[in-house]
Formats: sequence, C-alpha cells, structure tokens
Amino acid sequence: MTLQVTPVRRLEGVVEVPGDKSISHRAALFGGLAKGQTEITGFLEGEDCLGTIGAVRALGVEVARRGPGHYLVDGVGLSGLREPDDVIDCGNSGTTARLLMGILAGQPFWTVLTGDDSLRRRPMSRVAEPLRRMGATVVGRGGGGRLPLAVGGARPLRALTYASPVASAQVKTALVLAGLWADGAVTVTEPAVSRDHTERMLAAFGARIHVERRSVTITPGDELRGQPVAVPGDISSAAFLLVAGLIVPGARVTVRNVGANPTRTGLLDVLSAMGATLAFGTAGGGGAGEPACDLTVTGSPLRAATVGGDLIPRLIDEVPALAVAACLAEGVTRIRDAAELRVKESDRIRAIATELARMGAEITELPDGLEIRGGRRLRGAAVSSGGDHRMAMALVVAGLVAEGPSVVADTACIATSFPEFPAAINALAGAACVTERP
Ligand code: S3P
Repeated sequence: MTLQVTPVRRLEGVVEVPGDKSISHRAALFGGLAKGQTEITGFLEGEDCLGTIGAVRALGVEVARRGPGHYLVDGVGLSGLREPDDVIDCGNSGTTARLLMGILAGQPFWTVLTGDDSLRRRPMSRVAEPLRRMGATVVGRGGGGRLPLAVGGARPLRALTYASPVASAQVKTALVLAGLWADGAVTVTEPAVSRDHTERMLAAFGARIHVERRSVTITPGDELRGQPVAVPGDISSAAFLLVAGLIVPGARVTVRNVGANPTRTGLLDVLSAMGATLAFGTAGGGGAGEPACDLTVTGSPLRAATVGGDLIPRLIDEVPALAVAACLAEGVTRIRDAAELRVKESDRIRAIATELARMGAEITELPDGLEIRGGRRLRGAAVSSGGDHRMAMALVVAGLVAEGPSVVADTACIATSFPEFPAAINALAGAACVTERP
C-alpha cells in the first residue's frame, strides 16, 4: 500500500490511540499461563498482538473475543500448555518471538517458531544463549540465532544469574518467564533500565518478583492468578500524533488515556527540553499497575537536543518520530548510544538517515545514532518505509509539514501497531490529507 500525503494547514482535536503493544502482548501471554480468567480491555488489535493471541491459542489456551479490544483468556496454569500442531508464525513481531522463547524453554515439548522476512533477520541469540544455559535446547538457522528456531523445553530449568549485554525488555522478560519453571531464582541485570511492564504485570498476577535498580529477580513456585487488565493507549503510537501537533504551526492535539509508565516517557522529557508546549491531564490508571494520562501539545518552535545514555531505552521506539521533530528544530540534535535501532523492524538508523534525506533533511548516520541539523523546511518526496511501521508513520508526519505532496511506499505495515493512524491524522486535519494511492 502506498500513501499520498498532502501538507496540512491545521491539526486540531482530541483523539485516542489504540492499546499499548507491549502491555497487550504481555496480557495475552501471562493470561494464558495464569490459573483462572484474565479479562483484557483496550487490547491492541494490530497484527503483532493478534499474532500473540494466535500463538497462545496454538498452545492450547482458549481465548474469546467479546468486542473491540475485549478478550477473555482462560488460563491453563503453569503446567497446562500443550504442544502446538504446527509451526508458530510470529509475523513481524520480535516481542512475540522472544517472549514465547522464554515460555517455551520451560515446556516439556518442542515448538518451532518462524516470522516474516524482517523478523527472520533479527538476532535471537540474545535470548537463545541464556536459555540454553538454563537447560533449554534451542536450534535453528544462523548457528541457532535466527528464526526459524525450534525450542525444546526442560523442566525444571536451572536457576540463573545473568548480566544482559543489552538493555532489552524482551531479553529480560524471556528470562524472567523461563524462571517460572526454574529450580531456583532467576536474576537479570541490565546495563540500563528497560520498560518494566513485565515486572508490574507479573506482580499483579501474584508472581514473586523483586526489582532492585537495574536487576529483576523472580522466585518460582507460585501459580499466576488471572487478573483484569485495562490496557492504556500506546505512547509509542501517540508519539507520531504528538510530534505532528508540535511541528504544524498553530496545531493543538490532545491524545487521551496514554500510558505514562516512566520507563516509556523519555520522548516527553526530550520534547519538553526542546521547548515543546506539553500539558498533562489526568486519566484513570491503566490497570495492572500502569499509569496513564491525557497529553496535549500545541504547535511550538523547537530547539535541538542531545539524547543518549540511560534515556535511550526510555524512548527507543520513538526515535523515528523524534528524528522528524529534530529536522524542524533549530540547531543540531545528536542521538547516541542507540545502536539497538539497527536491529529493530528495520535498521532504523540507516532508514531514518536515507529517507528523511530524500525530503531534504541534513542527517548524518553515526554507528550508534544520528546527527540532525534542523531548522529548515522539508520538501515533499517519494520515500519508503522499508516495511517498518514506525518508519512509515514518521514519514507520513514529515510529509504533513513538507513543501509539496509526498508519497510513502510500503505502508501496509502500519497495521502491525496502529491500523487507524491515517484516519486519526485525517480527523485532526479535518481533511483527507493522507490517502491511499491506487
Ligand atoms: C518491547 C521491547 C523493546 C521495543 C519493542 C517492544 C517489549 O525491544 O523496541 O518494540 O514489548 O518488550 P527490546 O527489548 O529489544 O529493546
């Protein structure tokens, strides 16, 4: 699918974004492992999370859809999963693949996981290797580090104390989940704190989990108990609307009920430092220990920022949106310590530098980040997402403030996380500025 983007004159209104992707995946998976029912509301019905529901069903869990974003998961308990009949296809979703690997490591059967072209290129040894140390068998392409992978579980797994070389919530979560079937505590220490949805939700489900600065410890032995989970809006989806609201002169955009977990709000800190007019309103808590709030931005002149260190895991998925803001900000924005961007749904460092340069941005690619000289108008151009949903949405936002129309190719991927994104932009613009090109 190709989208045509016409620059906008106004952007105004109140919108909601779909449920948080990370929390939706976890609600479906943990609900499947728990005893009793987990009622999920606000579940993200994008392709990635629907893939996780499919995987949970393939492992023998009954999941009923009651309405939009409303699911009932009848958990089977820690001993209740069954061997799937077929290969599980994780599609484009790294979270589905890596979190499942952790669960499958503790099952007394074999499972084969695969994914789409992008996911089959992404590194899985970061999870496979420590799971092998715990006693699981993981074999597959690329020396056992690329999908398709087969996971043969062991029960009990061995206890583990692991210093992860990357700040990755997927690695942390996979090992903590494997710890549910270990013969002793599993401790994972990260170089910087990554999103902590697992810690919050597992605690709400009754797991014995202990957090100390950059370390998480799970002590096995207890069944999880099914809980209601109200998933707040995804701040990573809101990011595109917030940046659009900041760079369109005179805009005013409110996004309702956005997850405001401090391990995810790095973008808000950076935008504030860049001079964004950003107001926080109250919204009900998101459930499962997750805070949420309403966010309002108004079109603001922005100045450059320096972004790196511990801040990076707090905004890792927002860098494509941030890069667009940086193009419009006065001065040179430097983003460092973000080499992880090279192993996301695409090599986002390369993709941002290449595609925004087509629109006239002055960007230098660094091994672990980007240098963006902002403050000049972008021009409409033909660009491509490379099949990466966050690249697609960032390029559409850039097109809203460019001189002349833009064409963004390969945008069907938007459905992985924010299927309603073009409609949300058009509603705020009061015009059809993002349209499908035949
Ligand atoms: C996610 C963790 C992050 C993030 C991804 C979702 C999660 O990946 O980029 O979109 O739900 O745990 P890493 O754990 O690889 O950093």
